[in-house]
Amino acid sequence: MTTTEPLPRRRILVTSALPYANGSIHLGHLVEYIQTDIWVRFQKLRGHECYYVCADDTHGTPIMLRAQHEGITPEQLIERVHHEHKADFDAFAVDFDNYYSTNADENRVLAQGIYRRLRDAGLIDTRVIEQFYDPERGMFLPDRFIKGECPKCHALDQYGDGCEVCGTTYVPTELINPYSAVSGATPVTRESEHYFFKLGQCEAFLRDWMRSGNGGRPPLQPEAANKLQDWFEAGLRDWDISRDAPYFGFEIPDAPGKYLYVWLDAPVGYMASFENLAKRRGLDFAAWWQPDSNTELHHFIGKDILYFHALFWPATLHFSGYRTPNQVCVHGFLTVNGQKMSKSRGTFITARTYVDHLDPEYLRYYFAAKLNERIEDIDLNFDDYVARVNSNLVGKYVNIASRSAGFVSKLFDARLCDTLPTRDLKLIESFQTAAGTIADLYETRQFSEAVKTIMALADQANEHIDAARPWELAKDPEQHNRLHELCTTHLNLFRLLTLYLKPILPNISRKVETFLRIDPLRWSDAGDILLAHAIDTYQHLAKRVDPAQVEAMLEKNRENMKPSKPISSAPSSSGAAAQNKTTASADTIDFDSFAKIDLRVARISKAEAVEGADKLLRLTLDLGDQTRTVFAGIKSAYTAAQLEGRLTVMVANLAPRKMRFGVSEGMVLAAGPGGKDIWLLSPDDGAQPGMRVK
Ligand code: MSP
Ligand code: ZN
Repeated sequence: MTTTEPLPRRRILVTSALPYANGSIHLGHLVEYIQTDIWVRFQKLRGHECYYVCADDTHGTPIMLRAQHEGITPEQLIERVHHEHKADFDAFAVDFDNYYSTNADENRVLAQGIYRRLRDAGLIDTRVIEQFYDPERGMFLPDRFIKGECPKCHALDQYGDGCEVCGTTYVPTELINPYSAVSGATPVTRESEHYFFKLGQCEAFLRDWMRSGNGGRPPLQPEAANKLQDWFEAGLRDWDISRDAPYFGFEIPDAPGKYLYVWLDAPVGYMASFENLAKRRGLDFAAWWQPDSNTELHHFIGKDILYFHALFWPATLHFSGYRTPNQVCVHGFLTVNGQKMSKSRGTFITARTYVDHLDPEYLRYYFAAKLNERIEDIDLNFDDYVARVNSNLVGKYVNIASRSAGFVSKLFDARLCDTLPTRDLKLIESFQTAAGTIADLYETRQFSEAVKTIMALADQANEHIDAARPWELAKDPEQHNRLHELCTTHLNLFRLLTLYLKPILPNISRKVETFLRIDPLRWSDAGDILLAHAIDTYQHLAKRVDPAQVEAMLEKNRENMKPSKPISSAPSSSGAAAQNKTTASADTIDFDSFAKIDLRVARISKAEAVEGADKLLRLTLDLGDQTRTVFAGIKSAYTAAQLEGRLTVMVANLAPRKMRFGVSEGMVLAAGPGGKDIWLLSPDDGAQPGMRVK
């Protein structure tokens, strides 16, 4: 009795947005990767040819500066983060067919090729624009790297694009006393030629595209389509796609010193990751990306990057001769306990911290239970999380197996019945017929409805068990035949529920497959019934969550988020001034964190300039019983000769850091706004090297 007809085999390429390579994966990100992974797993279960690709988004100024700050190359930074991201995704069973990098040859060739085609189609313009420039660092400054006084409320240290205190948005040139967040220098305005993509000329195409239908489904959700309508009405502005050197990215062909803006090559990373996969799997990359391709392309993204995916991306694809997306699936943002994730509240939870305390499968279940096809924010409420996992996932679903399996092992030689009476078959059949509805819900990303439907079936199964009272039948050998039928029926219901939950719970379902000794379940198996079949002994499938585990995680997370900077220290390359100015925030550390800092008096036995570094001095510090090499960004305030022989205070237990010029084994403490005004902390006469500072 097959309830699912054979489906025409679709060829589906799915992507999630590429996470930036300068930050850790957090639970907000995971909303997206888990949502996408569930959808992909569902398509694969259905037997479709489906590929899920992603990559790290590696280019741009923040990544370049972050690497400089750490004293490593951008390549070293993105390599390290790649491994961290991959490990986090693996932990949450986010199963990419390829997890690549935008800093790859395939991506360079594709992105530069797309640029050339757009240029040859007359869609690239150049014009000179004026921008803030950091004369000390010799670079143009993105808005986020300029700070100053808010022109409206006069709050200090506000970013160049808007004031976090009064909410006013402005352009960086409106800031009072602007300074570069990179070096602390006062920026100057400077002209430079920029390249623009003429988005305004793509409006007619974009209007067509958003009305196009794939199987009757338009590429955008209604809320997203409305947003586009607003943007059309406001008028589409040309898009600045170039950045000046120094920039970590791809060069613009025939434009020396100009680089493609990271947001041009980032979505091309979807193609590059797939091309890299195609090479390994022998797939026809061109056929998947040609305009009349009979394959499908689905992008999953958060609401903050709709503009890029619903305007720039389809337009660049179309006008460079490629196919366009069938669907851009937009989700909302994650809030934790009703509020925006926040570092100070400890709710900015990284994937790693979560994994160290709680089962990733539970988060998958929780997100699935809350996700729908709309662009709504979703809230992670930990009380609700504990309740849903314990009473639904464990209490309803897992419980069905644990209530039946014991009898089968003990009384029936671990074998299911050969046949079942009609009334039992009818019950199983009613579960089988749900496969179609549940499939539609998955297909249309109504995951919360799917979970609701599945849990309603689990309720039915439990009610059936309650009414049949197997524990009483077990006491009477004459009832054992009926008990065997009931257990067989209930385990069949459990098998179906497992299949329906499989896109959400890949690990638990694998354990169930082992327990039931069955091949990996596919959607088409919904029509089968398991009879005359030996099963394994039941092993625990999932434990209840103890709210204390949640508490422990939140506590750990609060600790991890605490700033570990002691008193203002002399940073190596990010500029003392910028750091001093940003310490205005209200973050505090507790006494224990403070007590961890090992402050010592040190004698500067040697100070030398560092070749190639305009701010750094290499200090040899004598701690009495040992010497340390420390790089300090204090060259603007001291000459080497002024320092040699002096006493200062250092952080002696800072983990050694590999910098471009060598390993730094500590940090000397200094204060001041920067430039000439940096004062090294000097202990009074009488201190001895190696003394602890209390
Ligand atoms: N690098 C860009 C995407 C380039 S795609 C060609 C980027 N990276 S990101 O790391 O900031 O975000 C990656 C994805 O995670 C985005 O789709 C973003 O919307 C999503 N989320 C980031 N924070 C989120 C929440 N707090 N909640 C839900 N999704 C979130 O944007
Ligand atoms: Zn303000």
